[in-house]
Amino acid sequence: MGIIYEEERGIWKLDTPHTSYIIGIADKQYIGHIYYGARIRDCGGCSWMRTGEAPFVPSENMRDKCSFMDSFPAEYPGNGVGDFRESAVSVRDEAGNTAVQPLYTGYRIYAGKPSIPGLPATFGGEDVCETLELSARDEVLGLAFTLVYTVFSDVDVITRSVRITNEGEKPIALTKVMTMSLDMDAEDYRMLTLHGSWARERRMEYREIGYGKQSAGSVRGESSHQEHPFLALAERGATQERGTVYGFHFVYSGNFLAQVEKSQFDSLRVQLGIHPQEFCWKLEQGQTFYAPEAVQTCTREGLGGMSRTLHDLYRKHLIRSPYRNKKRPILINNWEATYFDFDTEKLLAIAREAKRCGIEMLVMDDGWFGRRNDDNTSLGDWQVNEEKLPGGLKRLADEVNKIGLKFGIWFEPEMISPDSELYRSHPDWAIALPGRKPCRARNQYVLDLSRPEVTEYVYEAVASVLRSADIAYVKWDMNRQLTDLGSAFLEKDRQGELMHRYVLAVYALQERLLAEFPELLLENCSGGGARFDPGMLYYSPQIWCSDDTDAIERLAIQEGTALLYPLSAIGAHVSDCPNHTVGRITPFATRGHVALAGTFGYELDITAIGEEERKMIPEQVALYHRYNDLVREGDYYRIASYRENHSYDCYAVVAKDRSEALVTYVQVLNRANCRSRRIRIPGLAPEKRYRIEGQEAVYYGDTLQNAGIFAPLFRGDFQSALIYIREV
Ligand code: GLA
Repeated sequence: MGIIYEEERGIWKLDTPHTSYIIGIADKQYIGHIYYGARIRDCGGCSWMRTGEAPFVPSENMRDKCSFMDSFPAEYPGNGVGDFRESAVSVRDEAGNTAVQPLYTGYRIYAGKPSIPGLPATFGGEDVCETLELSARDEVLGLAFTLVYTVFSDVDVITRSVRITNEGEKPIALTKVMTMSLDMDAEDYRMLTLHGSWARERRMEYREIGYGKQSAGSVRGESSHQEHPFLALAERGATQERGTVYGFHFVYSGNFLAQVEKSQFDSLRVQLGIHPQEFCWKLEQGQTFYAPEAVQTCTREGLGGMSRTLHDLYRKHLIRSPYRNKKRPILINNWEATYFDFDTEKLLAIAREAKRCGIEMLVMDDGWFGRRNDDNTSLGDWQVNEEKLPGGLKRLADEVNKIGLKFGIWFEPEMISPDSELYRSHPDWAIALPGRKPCRARNQYVLDLSRPEVTEYVYEAVASVLRSADIAYVKWDMNRQLTDLGSAFLEKDRQGELMHRYVLAVYALQERLLAEFPELLLENCSGGGARFDPGMLYYSPQIWCSDDTDAIERLAIQEGTALLYPLSAIGAHVSDCPNHTVGRITPFATRGHVALAGTFGYELDITAIGEEERKMIPEQVALYHRYNDLVREGDYYRIASYRENHSYDCYAVVAKDRSEALVTYVQVLNRANCRSRRIRIPGLAPEKRYRIEGQEAVYYGDTLQNAGIFAPLFRGDFQSALIYIREV
């Protein structure tokens, strides 16, 4: 299928529909990288290995092994033995040495794709996936490496992971394990990464690649608001639809490092893996460490090509929820409606009005448990506050169900408030360093999930609530970063495992929850979008994108998010104005149009908004029902970016069969004395004929794609339109 082995030359060629990736062996032991790019027919000549071009092959230049090591395009470079570039792995052995050198020992090719124990990973059957495992070994340490590559036959993706087994006699500490390393020529690429902060997540940033290292990373214990476990190399001048783009994305929710290093010989070393800072994993004899998965893709169809590949990969091969191909219930969440100030009656009033408007689920957010009337208290005490909710959750959920809505609930299971019964009885359950008072964030601490009795408590706290009432949805929140990294449970030579064990425990908790409640709709969240990553997407088909619900701010946030994630995964709600984060006033219609490019829902007091706005809700609900199949399943095309042009935003979703398309156009700031804008609509079938809803004329797809249409001219700022195009 996708993987060919040429025994004579020791070359593997991994093919996806439009790309090839070639690996070779130099001197029978060094695993080298030969090619990654557009699909090619054969494995080429050995000249690609630059044979004879010293110092590439050591046998040709035995006197200078070091310069061979330092320029060899390695698939998984070791540490401290001649390659001065960033290593993929490093250790501390019993003697205190850090050197490690994985040398080739064998390979295996098989149909299908292995899962990674305890970790989220993409999946695919034997009909779609083929896997190459390359074995390597450091004889001195007795450390065995398996480099795992899987190709997909239906998307241009190669996934990578690594497992490392201690086959020696003494324990070894792994101090760095990158999942992937890729050495390639430094052609004219720019590096693209995503950056932000709370309420302004995932803004795209390009930078030049200079000599030395440039990186994005997180050491916060979560993938973070600030940076994203992703990097792309985009050919200079690459546009949305043209140009070579390499994308690398990490299926992991904790600390990461995404780095590019440009060497003296103008090669690039691209790496992605768990951030080595704060990481040290002790491997006893016989134990195996599994590195999380990395996704790599290459396209000649620009940024849009990368986006559509990743969207397809995640929709088909990562999201497992029974909801993945289904319309999600339109929810109304009470956070921005009431904050902590609510009771059963208030929630039921919202539910009744919501029902009248066609909304399908009420989600009760933070504040229903313990004495949680503000954010200073009670995390960990997951008992319902009967003063607010007399008769408890069952009564509330039953009443909401009677009204005709499903019921959902908020949790922040990983946290503990210093002011909680839980903390008073188990102060050592919080992550803290001996002798230091841990740093508070939102006045809370983080639970030490490396400790089995803590995860057991957390699981039962959530599961017993879900067992007690008819709960269809959970918003699983995580509102602070990890600091003061000490565990009262882990031994002193395992303290460096805390951050990774924490993430593994979150995964195990969600896995268990979904096994017990397979129909549950889970939405992950982290102070907005601090843990919006492919790891969490494996557990929840949607993730809350940002606490900033302002329609205009959301344009850039959703653009950056949709660069990598399908719209079906992006939690987006219509909220009240003036917007609670930025104070901006935007038309209700625009707020609806922008939220339609996500899961769609409401986050406002529906009993208190103006009559005119309330009347628009059933119309927006109808739009959602009409367009959600298309938005959820279609191909996403970015047409214009407000982030770049400071004036308007435009994107389209085109059905896979090219029979229909929905274009969203937002005029952010109006301009004086200007003519209407031309919008070219990509992705349509050139030979098909289409009609734009509301117009008589019929156009060929290539007309709409090349000549385009004129965007509506609006008076005023923050105006928007949906343009629906259907094949005739
Ligand atoms: C986080 C979430 C919000 C809300 C609050 C509740 O900030 O992102 O949506 O749930 O917590 O405290």
